[in-house]
Amino acid sequence: MNTEVLNGRLEPHGDGELISKVLETVVEQVRPCTSRGSVATYIPELGKQDKGLLGIAMASVQGDVWVAGDWDSPFTMQSISKVVSLGLALTEMGEERVFSRVGVDPTADPFNSIMRLEMVAPHRPQNPLINAGAIVTLSLLPYPDSHSRFAAVRDLARRLTGAMDLDMDEAVYVSERDTSDRNRALAYFLRSVGALEGDIEDILDSYFRQCSLRVNAKDLAVMGVTLASGGVNPFSGERVLSSKVCRIMRALMATCGLYDGSGEFAVRVGVPAKSGVGGGIVASVPMRYGIGTFGPALDPKGNSLGGIMMLERISKELSLRVL
Ligand code: DON
Repeated sequence: MNTEVLNGRLEPHGDGELISKVLETVVEQVRPCTSRGSVATYIPELGKQDKGLLGIAMASVQGDVWVAGDWDSPFTMQSISKVVSLGLALTEMGEERVFSRVGVDPTADPFNSIMRLEMVAPHRPQNPLINAGAIVTLSLLPYPDSHSRFAAVRDLARRLTGAMDLDMDEAVYVSERDTSDRNRALAYFLRSVGALEGDIEDILDSYFRQCSLRVNAKDLAVMGVTLASGGVNPFSGERVLSSKVCRIMRALMATCGLYDGSGEFAVRVGVPAKSGVGGGIVASVPMRYGIGTFGPALDPKGNSLGGIMMLERISKELSLRVL
């Protein structure tokens, strides 16, 4: 059995054998479908990824981990980091202050859309998981510069994943920083309508840095189960976030986590989740499991094609649906 134990438990409890088998099988079945997707190329460094990679990891609140396929291949969090910075902002600033500046409603638009920001007054990003909302959320954090802002996000990411050496992929960071006209346009537009304050380039720098945090599928599984357990990392035993903050994060993941693909994902999988253009998806099954998937072949909405297919099958096989 391909079982990795992070801390303590050596024998998976209960459905351990079944879970292991299901993970192996879905990777095998879904892998051929990755040829139908495309890696992200608008960040040139991401375009170098092998689109045939596919991996998965699952962690339980009891502290078991199961892995299959390319679970240990490294990739960058990209938009999955928006969940981390949201958790930090909610913890440090409180719900009221954050949501006075960023909404909590899903959009039917792509993750980097600028259109509705101009059309709807007040010009407030619709939610913290689209690019505009994540940039405003970061700007609210009480840190003087990109360096300290990013260090705080990285620290929370480390404690959520249990990967205490988690850090940036320098090449991906530089690649996005040097090509991100779209996010610059979004940020300067937000400033022009009074929705974003501060040093724009400095705020964007911390955004690009957090997007380039390098993880593997197992790290995401641990992050997912920490959110599922109400904020306690079952491997380190540390309370990382409050249960109230986790509840808000899971609600936003369920409604906005896959952008304009969120509704379809809720119907097909039925579990709170967040995707990133690096190919990752983190899923959180309340009080039970966290799941991390990796498959850099994306669908047209920028979500991992193989990741969604694997999660759909696993949700059905293991009765994980909560929505
Ligand atoms: O801002 C960007 O475009 C990327 N750093 C993150 C976008 C992303 O991951 C969208 N998710 N599927």
